[in-house]
Amino acid sequence: MEIRPARTQDTRSIVELHADTVRRVNSRDYSPSQIDGWLGDPERRLARTEAMIREGRYYVAEEDGRVVGFGHFHDSEITSLYVDAELHGRGIGSALLARLEEEAVRAGAFELEAKSTLTALGFYLASGYEQIERLRVGSVGLDVVRMRKRLAPERQQIPKRSNPDATV
Ligand SMILES: CC(C)(COP(=O)(O)OP(=O)(O)OC[C@H]1O[C@@H](n2cnc3c(N)ncnc32)[C@H](O)[C@@H]1OP(=O)(O)O)[C@@H](O)C(=O)NCCC(=O)NCCS
Repeated sequence: MEIRPARTQDTRSIVELHADTVRRVNSRDYSPSQIDGWLGDPERRLARTEAMIREGRYYVAEEDGRVVGFGHFHDSEITSLYVDAELHGRGIGSALLARLEEEAVRAGAFELEAKSTLTALGFYLASGYEQIERLRVGSVGLDVVRMRKRLAPERQQIPKRSNPDATV
C-alpha cells in the first residue's frame, strides 16, 4: 500500500469510494435522508472533487493499482478521510492520517482539526485527537464532533529589537 498525492484521474474512484463507504458504513449512525443529502448530486461532487485535487493537499492510498482510501486537508482542517468499507481495521486510515499530519506541518500548521462523523469518533480518539464540541452541520443537519490534535509547538514570536534610528 502506498500513500501518494491524488491525481485528477483518481476523481471517479474517490467519489465512488466515498459514496459506497457512506452508504455501507456511516449509515449505521445517520438516517437514509441524511445520507442522501450528504452525498448530494454525483456530478457536482465529481466536479468539486476534481477542483480540490487540482488545488493539492489531496492524498490517496493505493493498493495493487486501486484507490483504497483518500484524505484531504485545507489549512489546519481535515476535510475528508475515507477507507474502502471492505478494508477497515488494516491501518490504511492511520497511514493516510499520518501523511495528512506530516504535510500539514510542512505547510506551516501546528494543529489539525476534524469534524468527525459519529462513526469515526473512535478512530480519531485512538489517533490522539481530543473532542472539542458536538456540532450539527450542513443543510441535512449531520451530527459531527469537532476534534483537535496539536502537531507541533506553536511558532515562537521573535521579539522585535527596537530600532534606535526609528523616528516613531
Ligand atoms: C475512520 C476510517 C477512515 C478509519 O480507517 P481504518 O483504515 O479503518 O483505520 P485503522 O485501521 O488505521 O485504525 C486505526 C486505529 O483506530 C481504531 N479505529 C478505527 N476505526 C474505529 C472506530 N470506528 N471506532 C473505534 N476505533 C476505531 C482502530 O482499532 C485502530 O486502533 P489500534 O491502532 O489501537 O489498533 C474508516 O473507518 C472509515 O472510512 N470510516 C467511515 C468514513 C468516515 O466516517 N470517515 C471520517 C470522516 S470525518
